[in-house]
Amino acid sequence: MQRIAVMTSGGDSPGMNAAIRAVVRSATCRGLEVLGIRRGYAGMIEGDFLPMPPTAVSGIINRGGTILLTARSQQFMSEEGQRQAVEQLRRAGVEGVVVIGGDGSFHGAQALWHDWQVPTVGIPASIDNDLAGTDLSIGFDTAVNTALESIDRIRDTAVSHDRVFVVEVMGRNCGMLALHAGLAGGAEVIIIPEVPYQITRIGTLIKEGRARGKNSYIIVVAEGAARGIAIAADIEAISGADTRVTVLGHVQRGGVPSAQDRSLASRLGAAAVNLLLENKPGMMVGIEGEDIVSHPLQTAWTGKKHMDLSLYELAQVLAT
Ligand code: F6P
Repeated sequence: MQRIAVMTSGGDSPGMNAAIRAVVRSATCRGLEVLGIRRGYAGMIEGDFLPMPPTAVSGIINRGGTILLTARSQQFMSEEGQRQAVEQLRRAGVEGVVVIGGDGSFHGAQALWHDWQVPTVGIPASIDNDLAGTDLSIGFDTAVNTALESIDRIRDTAVSHDRVFVVEVMGRNCGMLALHAGLAGGAEVIIIPEVPYQITRIGTLIKEGRARGKNSYIIVVAEGAARGIAIAADIEAISGADTRVTVLGHVQRGGVPSAQDRSLASRLGAAAVNLLLENKPGMMVGIEGEDIVSHPLQTAWTGKKHMDLSLYELAQVLAT
């Protein structure tokens, strides 16, 4: 193997740049040439490739977003789109691809390997941390901390005004981001898709709490469980409390990656290159406990994502 390509795909996440850097630097150290693919699978179809010598990744370990840009490509989902992409790779002499991204990106990586025999490996990067086969995906830790900072600020104003605040966080269909930000932020209520909730119970709890003199509440709601605005309307109606809603949105995707995300990205980037060199394509890298591991790509969506629901119970106990 002489030449590989690296790309980022799907929603950006903090630490993607650190992963690109790790792939480029560990590959060139092992005598490989690296091409960068811009804008994910869309750029692969167009042949939007650029040489990535080690200097191309200087000064990016601390930068959010992705220097390779990213996209969600509808075209790559079709056989014709994939054929064009594979032709571009072959024309450019690419013998292996590292895909940095989430669930949708891994489906694309699986198609490249399984249907077109392009040796491909995946590095999990998503603020949602919804992929099985890894405890963590790159960007999750930073996003939790970004959400947490906002929750802390909102608590100041919630306490000052005796208000209830509903804070809606991202995560797609997964409550991991809401659970961890809610626990660390001391949220009185956490609403996640993995645990059924009863809005009347929550509203009554707040009403009773206010009668006892507890006047401010933070409710962290995962976007995959409910819309913050609907929860806020119901809570206000049931409890009579002055209620506001904040949708954190894309602020959670940007920003300087945390130490944990940079270190994870560095380790996973090097591990992905190793897999290609060891001729183990069709795999994803991940972290389990302290160990860097690898699993078949489809583990990401066929495996069961472990969520520690004792954290949810703990948050409930600590909020009483
Ligand atoms: O997958 C990352 C994520 O930020 C999700 O949490 C969110 O639901 C989605 O992407 C938003 O996508 P877009 O950037 O296309 O609005």
